[in-house]
Amino acid sequence: MTYESFYGKYYDRLRAAEKMLLHMVSEFEKIGGGIDGESKVAYCKSRIKSPDSMTQKLRKRGIKVCAESAVKEVRDAVGIRIICSFSDDIYKIADWISQQNVIEVRKIKDYIAYPKENGYRSYHMILYLKPFDFCAEVQIRTIALDFWASLEHQMKYKHNIKNEKLIREELKRCADEIASVDLSMQTIKDLIYTDS
Ligand code: GTP
Ligand code: MG
Repeated sequence: MTYESFYGKYYDRLRAAEKMLLHMVSEFEKIGGGIDGESKVAYCKSRIKSPDSMTQKLRKRGIKVCAESAVKEVRDAVGIRIICSFSDDIYKIADWISQQNVIEVRKIKDYIAYPKENGYRSYHMILYLKPFDFCAEVQIRTIALDFWASLEHQMKYKHNIKNEKLIREELKRCADEIASVDLSMQTIKDLIYTDS
């Protein structure tokens, strides 16, 4: 099934919402240059949830499978992921987004301050987009943790993995090491920009 046929009349609005969020991030980049003049956002990814995965999600939650509920009841039909080099920038971007008039923050999950048991670290926001009257999800994390999350994500789709327990332990160890390296990188950067 194509995106157009699944989301019907909402499809253009989903795309416009995705574009609005990406534009919001690019505005932050323009005004939020900071002392180092380096951009705070390394890169940004965005997606509209695929018809297959949206159908699965609706079924799992026992909600009618239709475009209306996909857009109004599931809050991540539109998702953007903002990837930063440094951990401090995560909160700067999140703050800036929260202050935008076109959105209202509906929910925050701060897996940076409170990592998941598996080691996952990321800052999640559910935003109500006023011009569109539906919600979208924003995930903000570091480059290193994004790299980790993509590998960890592959475990979801692979069944009957040999040594699963060991792999999960190793992943957890890597996540903790990454968090520690992210912290050191931030500290080094702060030292570079501290006036001597
Ligand atoms: P859904 O997962 O969207 O149903 O919502 P939720 O209520 O579990 O929200 P949460 O903010 O925890 O997760 C939202 C999204 O973040 C997920 O759909 C994944 O894309 C991502 N995510 C959450 N936890 C993990 C994790 O442990 N590993 C990875 N790789 N991604 C995760
Ligand atoms: Mg999701």
